[in-house]
Amino acid sequence: MITLRTPPRLVPPTAAVRVSFLTGEQADCVASGFDTEWLGPASEDFDGYVASCRGVRRRWDVPFSTYWYVAGEHYLGTLVIRHELTPSLLVDGGNIGYHVTPAWRRQGHATRMLAAGLTEARRLGLTRALLTCDPTNEASQKVILANGGQPDETLGNELRYWMDLRSGRG
Ligand SMILES: CC(C)(COP(=O)(O)OP(=O)(O)OC[C@H]1O[C@@H](n2cnc3c(N)ncnc32)[C@H](O)[C@@H]1OP(=O)(O)O)[C@@H](O)C(=O)NCCC(=O)NCCS
Repeated sequence: MITLRTPPRLVPPTAAVRVSFLTGEQADCVASGFDTEWLGPASEDFDGYVASCRGVRRRWDVPFSTYWYVAGEHYLGTLVIRHELTPSLLVDGGNIGYHVTPAWRRQGHATRMLAAGLTEARRLGLTRALLTCDPTNEASQKVILANGGQPDETLGNELRYWMDLRSGRG
């Protein structure tokens, strides 16, 4: 396994991790059966792609911010914070979503990345955050519970957890 010379940090998307981001996301898309089409334009104009990912954007009918988990030239994963909830996000999606690229999984990165994400969510002014997770996703359940997630009732198919951001945790 590659030794990281600096601990990963959650940062706004950065062109400093071009190769690592593109290869990591390609591996993630292939492993998950997701569309890889977007990687063509992103690799042709990476600076433009990065610029398009920065700042507060709008999707799911809410404002959201994107962060990359980065150590030096290494890109490990992405975390997205949705600043608000809609009736639909209350059931499925919640405030925070994340993934770690396949090569970096099972090394505790998602657990630490979510902890850093909760700090960012607090900085954005959220007092609590909802996370939802497929019942078969054992890894994500562990990540959420390790960060203090409190289970709430299941409204659709997803498990639902609240994070209290008013405490010192996260
Ligand atoms: C879920 C995901 C983010 C976990 O990332 P990760 O960096 O491997 O997670 P961690 O290393 O912090 O592992 C957290 C715990 O899950 C366990 N775990 C990791 N992968 C696992 C797997 N495939 N099956 C079962 N347990 C797993 C780890 O052993 C660890 O357990 P521990 O706390 O008892 O030691 C990653 O698998 C992923 O990106 N999956 C696809 C996207 C996704 O599911 N996102 C979350 C949507 S809610």
